Formats: sequence, structure tokens, C-alpha cells
Amino acid sequence: MSFRRLGIKYRMLPAQAAFHRSRSKYKAYVGGYGSGKTYAGCHEAIRLSVINRGLPGMVVAPTYGMLEDATLPAFLEILDRAGIAYKWRRSSANLMLPWGSKVMFRSADSPEHLKGPSLAWVGIDEGAMVSRAAWEVLISRIRHPEAGRLQAFITTTPEGYNWLFEEFVEKRKKRYRLISASTRENIYLPPEYAEDLVEAYGANLARQYVSGEFVNPVAGRVYDAFSRERHVRDGLEYAPAYPLSMAVDFNVDPLHAALIQVADGEVRIVDEVVIRSSNTWELCEAVRGRYRHIPITAYPDPTGRARKTAGTPEAPSDFAVLSLNGFTVRARNSSPSVRDRVNAVNRILAGGGPARLVISSACRESIRSFERTCWKDGLSVIDKSHGDEHMTDAVGYFIEYEFPVRAPQRVEYEGFLRRAVRRCF
Ligand SMILES: Nc1ncnc2c1ncn2[C@@H]1O[C@H](COP(=O)(O)OP(=O)(O)OP(=O)(O)O)[C@@H](O)[C@H]1O
Ligand SMILES: [Mg+2]
Repeated sequence: MSFRRLGIKYRMLPAQAAFHRSRSKYKAYVGGYGSGKTYAGCHEAIRLSVINRGLPGMVVAPTYGMLEDATLPAFLEILDRAGIAYKWRRSSANLMLPWGSKVMFRSADSPEHLKGPSLAWVGIDEGAMVSRAAWEVLISRIRHPEAGRLQAFITTTPEGYNWLFEEFVEKRKKRYRLISASTRENIYLPPEYAEDLVEAYGANLARQYVSGEFVNPVAGRVYDAFSRERHVRDGLEYAPAYPLSMAVDFNVDPLHAALIQVADGEVRIVDEVVIRSSNTWELCEAVRGRYRHIPITAYPDPTGRARKTAGTPEAPSDFAVLSLNGFTVRARNSSPSVRDRVNAVNRILAGGGPARLVISSACRESIRSFERTCWKDGLSVIDKSHGDEHMTDAVGYFIEYEFPVRAPQRVEYEGFLRRAVRRCF
């Protein structure tokens, strides 16, 4: 379907073109302020009303105010400029297009108005601001039996890690597609607009409001350099040609462990284990189940030298349990400082150090942890209230030991533990 045939002159920005091209059933144009979201959404609505000629569709905004002030005027302006003769019924908030399609304009602040007859398509402006419940009601309505294309689309600025992030990014669902757009790419804005926003919001929030990235807007991310584009790789798996290591954080429920290989200048997180209400024995069993006869070096939280989650007489500590299960154990004498650990990880993430970090796309907990771990109160204490930090804590014990920013005192426990274990039998 071409806009020109309707008399609409539309020179799309590259992100807008990608958005219109996508045939995914659920698609989202996620961008900064002024990145052309509403403009793209209105055009997409017109397009779908032509593809689904004669059938009803719905344009939704989070509130009536937003609908009246931004979305509806943008929509009508496009029609007016193209000389398209529409009928706007204010009392019912329905728009009739000359090709027989009806566009219903609704706000998500009264979800009962969203329920009702079947639709061919739905578009939500500033969709990250509507509730998950509203989204679920809306997608349940796109089921019109005569529809040529059933689609639901969102145009929005990200709002932290909410349901939109889960559905469109984290779950990696097949029929969902996200197109990112930056304010800087909108050539129709005044040239200083994006930089004014950066100045007003600061670098962290500008990532959300200008670059259109998902960030935690409340506090700074600990692993700020992490991005899915740079650090996540599909199909990354254990490669038998390289040694295998395991980074462990014992002190937590669930227990977290990352399986790591260093190869070709890369620190690769190839696998991960998360087990609830568990102990070190079960962790060993789970890992040994996957990597039966493979030598593995463990890099645990150094406090496990004295602590035991296992509680058996023959194993004096978590380290001994690892050793009994055939792991070589490497850890520092005492826990490295949080700063040292985070600095070592961030250097690897930034790619400027001795190796680069890559994570298998199958390691969802690791990705989540790199993405979400945040500082609490400034830049010294990690926020532990959501439990996001466990996997990156574990990975930090490995990276800090092998790639320290400051040279640490290394202690090999292997020999010591073998002797200790032998004495136990
Ligand atoms: N392809 C385009 N051609 C011409 N003008 C465009 C195009 N895309 C966007 N614009 C213009 O850029 C400006 C910002 O676009 P729009 O309002 O769609 O952005 P937005 O991301 O919805 O902004 P906000 O964050 O304020 O809601 C508007 O004046 C719009 O008309
Ligand atoms: Mg807008």
C-alpha cells in the first residue's frame, strides 16, 4: 500500500520505514522524545485502515488529554494536508474514512471503553504508559474474521523495565518486533533539540528520552556499558576446545552460577545455573549433570571458604564440597571490594581491557543481571532489593580474579583442599 496513492507526502525516517515494513503481529516503535513516534503511528493506522478496508480499527492513548492534545490532532493534520475527506464524530470519538474504514479513538484510562466488538488492528501512542491489563484487553480484540492483516502496534518512549520491555525484549517472542529510534535521527527537528534534552535530563535519563533505550531511571546502572547489541550473541555454547570455569555466588537463594570460557580474547558466558532453596551439593550435581567428565575451575565467593550451605561432617566448607566434586577452586583470601569487582567487570564490558565479554542469548538471568543491577544511594552500594545482582556478583568473582584492575593476592586452594579432604576419609 503506498501513501502517495492517497495523496499523502511522507518521507520516512529510516526507523519509520523499518517500522512500517514489519509484518510482525505485534510491533513497537520505541524512541526518544520527538523521534517521530506519533507521526509514524498515525501513518501506520492509516495504512492498516486501507489494508483492512471497511473494517474497524482503534487508536489508543494513555489519557484523554494525550489523545486530544497530541494523537488526534496529528492524525487529522495528515488527513487534512492530503485533502482526505473524513467524518469526525465527536460524541462517539469515531472517525469515518472515505474508503469505508472506521477508526475509534479511545483512552486507556477507562479500560471498560476498550472492550467490545472485534477489531482488525490497534495502535497505541505512548504505549509504555498504559497498563499491561489494557494491552492484554486490546490484543484480545484484534480478531476480525474479515481482516486482511491483524496487527497491534505501539509507538512509545520507554518507561524503565516495565511490561513492554518484558514482552518486546526480554521474552524474545517470535511475533514481537521492536524498532528503536533516536531523537537525533529525526532530521525534521531543530538541530539543537536533542542536545537540549541531554542537558536537561543528564546522560543516564537521556539514554531513555533521547536514544530510546530501556534504562532504570531511578538509579544508575552498575554495568552501564552493557548493551544487548554489543554483548549478547546467539548460538554461543560450550566449546570443548577451551577450558571451562564456573563463577559462583553461594551466599544467596537461589544459588547462581555462570559457566565461562575464555577464548580468542573473549570472556564467554556460555551457560548458567540458577537453583532455588539449594546447597552447594545440589549445585555441583546440576553442573556435573551437564558437564560430566570435564575439568572445571570454580571461582566462588571467597566467604565460602569458611561457610557451608551443605552442612555435612566430611565437607568442612562450601569450598571443600566443590573440591570433593572434582572442581579446582580459585578464590582470593578475602572478598574483593565491590568497587574492585565492578571496575574489573566494567573494564571487560567496555572492551578496553585484556578481553571482551560476550553472553549467550540463552543465559537470560545473566543478561537480566547485567541490565538491571543498580546502585543504591550514589555509587558505592549495590541495590539488593530486587535480587538482580546475584549473577553479576558471581561473574565478578571470576573476572576480578582473572582480570583484576589491581593485581590481587592469589591463593590456590586446590592443593590445600585435597589434603584437607584426604584427612577427612
Ligand atoms: N517522516 C517525517 N516527515 C516529516 N516530519 C516528521 C517526520 N517524522 C516526524 N516528523 C515531525 O517531527 C516532529 C516530531 O514528531 P512526532 O511528534 O511524531 O514525535 P514523537 O516522538 O511522537 O514526539 P513526542 O515525544 O513529543 O510525543 C513533528 O513535528 C513531526 O511532524
Ligand atoms: Mg508523540
